[in-house]
Amino acid sequence: MKYLDSNDDLNIAIEYIKSGKTVIFPTETVYGIGANALDRNAVDKIFKIKGRPQDNPLIVHISNIDMLKELVTEVNEIEKKLIDRFWPGPLTIIFPKNEIIPNNVTCNLDTVGIRMPSNEIARNFITKCECPIAAPSANKSGKPSGTFIDDILDEFMEEDVIVIDGGESEIGLESTVIKVTEGTIEILRPGYITYDELSKIAPTIMNKNVTEKPKQDEKVESPGMKFRHYAPNVKCVLVVGEKQDIEKKMLNEIQEKIEENKDIKIEVLYKYNLPNLKLEKENIKYICMGKDDEEISKKIYHLLRDIDKRKPDIVYIESVEKKGLGIAIYNRLIRACEYNII
Ligand code: TXA
Ligand code: MG
Repeated sequence: MKYLDSNDDLNIAIEYIKSGKTVIFPTETVYGIGANALDRNAVDKIFKIKGRPQDNPLIVHISNIDMLKELVTEVNEIEKKLIDRFWPGPLTIIFPKNEIIPNNVTCNLDTVGIRMPSNEIARNFITKCECPIAAPSANKSGKPSGTFIDDILDEFMEEDVIVIDGGESEIGLESTVIKVTEGTIEILRPGYITYDELSKIAPTIMNKNVTEKPKQDEKVESPGMKFRHYAPNVKCVLVVGEKQDIEKKMLNEIQEKIEENKDIKIEVLYKYNLPNLKLEKENIKYICMGKDDEEISKKIYHLLRDIDKRKPDIVYIESVEKKGLGIAIYNRLIRACEYNII
């Protein structure tokens, strides 16, 4: 691994891409691990380094609208409006793909997800590479996405990549992924661009796997949604309900656990002050995720990663409300908790 500060000359990273290697670069959502999207061998390296399943397609990143025309066969009226309103920014649109894109980028689908990031370092980098950049989130498959530079350096230390440091990711959760079919926008993965904002452009629906567990063997529209994802090695439990219910449920659970084993190490990730909950016990650690959804979104992956460093026996996470940006956070939390919800 080679590390570059954002003030360093990025030429070495650009040369890396041109020679068919991979570079980790910042975007406004999360860091991406990128390669030339038109070079099949370079794209293979991403799958290898991440340990990514062969049927989870990559998003292709562009820096200007001319690049889009080469990559897709058609852009409909609603997609044009979405592009006008939200690009550059955290919105990925699924288009019918052009033949020029190798099949390993899209895992043999006839569609491709495209996004134009708003992060200046990312756009400048893509422009100078003179090619579209295929990039999934910068994390080993199944782990929380990389949003803090130290987490990324830790995880990719041994790999043949260059890392461009752009500081903490501004948003902290991956882009909203959508598909437009017969005049309707379908949200496949929720993100910073919310249901309400998309509804202003065209009728919008939420794919049911956004907030529910896919059935075994069910075909999912966005393959990434079916994998074990964002999950620490430690067992996490998501606690849902009204504020008072959450407190009550957590208190009961914690007391039960302590009765079973008085030395058990418990962590609580909370959003509100949970005044009744503050059982002052040495083996319970309380960690605030943030005062609002924006702050939680920024910090959540880093917090989830930190859990594995401390290795408690069990973690209880206070759920957020399923509205606005909260839907995107909830979508990640149910996966981090592997659908352990009480
Ligand atoms: O914000 C982001 O989107 C970040 C940054 C780096 O741009 N990238 C990212 O990539 O999150 P990744 O690979 O971690 O997630 C891509 C998601 C997956 O859930 C994948 O299944 C879905 O997009 N996807 C990609 N191409 C698709 C397609 N043709 N049809 C349906 N879903 C697709
Ligand atoms: Mg990912």
